[in-house]
Amino acid sequence: MDVPPAAAAASSSNDDASQARRLVMLEQLTSGYGFDTEAAEKALDEVGPTSEVSVVVNYILENGMGKDRGGSVVPKTDCPHVNDHVKVTTEKLPDHPQHALCSFFAQEDQDMDDNNNKDRIGRLKSDTDDPDDNGKSCPAGENWFCMECGAIRCSRYVNGHCLAHYQETEKGEESTTGHCIAASLVDLSVWCYKCEAYVQDPLLDPLIQRLEQLKFQEASEPKKKKPRQSHPNDERYRVAQSSGDETTSNNNNDSNDNDDDDDEEDNDSDASPTIIDIATAVARGIPIGLFQSSENEEEEELQYSFDKLPKSVEDVAKFIQSDKCRNIVILAGAGMSVAAGIPDFRSANGLYATMNPDLLSADPVEREAIRMDPTVALEQGMFLQNPLPCLELNREFILGTRNQKWKATLAHRFVELLHAKTGKLVRLYTQNIDGLEDQCTQLPRDKVIAVHGSMDRAECAHCGQESDYGQFCDRVRDQIKDLSGNDEQAPQESTPITCTTCGSRAVKPAIVLFRSSLPMTFFENVPRDVLDVDLLIVIGTSLRVAPANSLVWRIPKTALRLLVNREPVGWHLGVAYGPDSKRDVFAQGNCDFVLLDLMAHLGWLDDLRPLLDEQKLPDACAALLRNRLGKEDESSSANPSS
Ligand code: OAD
Repeated sequence: MDVPPAAAAASSSNDDASQARRLVMLEQLTSGYGFDTEAAEKALDEVGPTSEVSVVVNYILENGMGKDRGGSVVPKTDCPHVNDHVKVTTEKLPDHPQHALCSFFAQEDQDMDDNNNKDRIGRLKSDTDDPDDNGKSCPAGENWFCMECGAIRCSRYVNGHCLAHYQETEKGEESTTGHCIAASLVDLSVWCYKCEAYVQDPLLDPLIQRLEQLKFQEASEPKKKKPRQSHPNDERYRVAQSSGDETTSNNNNDSNDNDDDDDEEDNDSDASPTIIDIATAVARGIPIGLFQSSENEEEEELQYSFDKLPKSVEDVAKFIQSDKCRNIVILAGAGMSVAAGIPDFRSANGLYATMNPDLLSADPVEREAIRMDPTVALEQGMFLQNPLPCLELNREFILGTRNQKWKATLAHRFVELLHAKTGKLVRLYTQNIDGLEDQCTQLPRDKVIAVHGSMDRAECAHCGQESDYGQFCDRVRDQIKDLSGNDEQAPQESTPITCTTCGSRAVKPAIVLFRSSLPMTFFENVPRDVLDVDLLIVIGTSLRVAPANSLVWRIPKTALRLLVNREPVGWHLGVAYGPDSKRDVFAQGNCDFVLLDLMAHLGWLDDLRPLLDEQKLPDACAALLRNRLGKEDESSSANPSS
């Protein structure tokens, strides 16, 4: 049959489109869901043209062609189950999401209590004398909140009680049952067990946003004393309390408690919102609004802390020296240490682009997940499942830190001098874990908050116990393979490092992993520190990671923001450069260069000279400084009166 040219063109472009669609789905099925290519191809052939990847996924699962390996990270926006299975209201959300632990055993206890076999908190009457019996409870880790009944259950990385909750409730008489929608209390993504996918739906937004508020609120509240417990050793009671489980008492009453034991400080350092990359958040359907300020700057008449928006580094120097600038906060990222020889994460030669997932000790599914999103290698859940990729990626960094391989850069020295010369530095919030600020002896320790932890200590990711740092480094050297191939002494195969306290294979540097919590000190200090800020200096960060990046919008709207970076960043946080900018100044370039220029305008170059004699700068910074000092010396000898 003859086909008219236009129809032929249309048909061929349809073919192209469906071929492209097929390829995208194939990628999702293999990379996202971890199915074999063969099974994915076969299922696509058998299901036929469909725009729904979940239809193909279900087909594969129902026909036993592949195993459920955790599902895609691309959220589904048309989950048909949200309407029927999201029944909780915001009042039912746990008051303290970060303290919420899996209430599986508490529930089990309650059931037994109903049977009169156990005491009020669920232990066998004969068990109660055993002081070591802390009861069964799931270890701290990722927990999920059932959007249908409010139960809190642990993730597949812990004991899989959330999945079990879905399966148990599905066994009810009606086939439409099954509490299938659950929200992660760690990163607030929402999962549907029936769709086997992350889901996104406007119906979920108010709940998720309220959860986020609760997390921030609690973290920024002053520490509360521990609630009274009828048996202080019984973990299960605490579990039930903090979960907000209907069957137990509510945490809201804690403050009325006047138990003597309350004097005990709550030292939980994990009670804080979690760290997440913006791209991961988008991929997992976490509302992007959670990362932004909701305030509309345009509607207000503001009295800025500066008279005129600075147009140059020299103008910024003048502002710093003026009385108008009283309080300065700095937010730093990996770019600050690049001149020291430590690569950043997201640049073309950064850790994520240069890592080779094939070299990591991981199974094919883990490797694929890391290939798709390199931050997976640094996720808490992944670490508990398989700690080796994280340790392998950090081996050189861990050993280099111990051997004090790197020197503080000019950017670090700028922060030091800013404090020493002006007294205006409120705080340096650094996302870096290299501890290079410690070399700046004029910068007091309490001026620095390492929001993502530090490489110079070790701890167990499972029980939280601190490990001997020297011993940990020795084990990293002896047990973890060297991806660079430079260390001939390194083992060929990696073996995990076991915690001497709990026996888990989970010892790691004391850094904050993705989808785990920031140190409490961040949340304790931020609300105070941002109050009267006149200038925020952002140095060498992509501003991709929350909640550290929230400083950008937490400071007063009247404050000046100076970004010192290789490229402009922060659009998603409301930062706006260019002619229409109201309070943002972009100083483009390597931060050492820009900040050296700033220090020159501030008249601090002579303070840097001793660093050259004492060889305290990395080579690149020393060369930069020498060059600048040479020029200054030349111009002052040419013009002695200046
Ligand atoms: P990124 O690698 O995401 O961003 C570094 C930024 O600094 C990029 O915008 C670079 O262009 C810029 N940059 C690089 N070298 C520079 C230089 N010499 N001068 C000026 N700018 C330069 O690093 P971070 O923003 O710090 O978390 O990343 C944030 C967090 O994500 C890290 O703390 C880490 C990471 O995954 C964890 O591992 C938990």
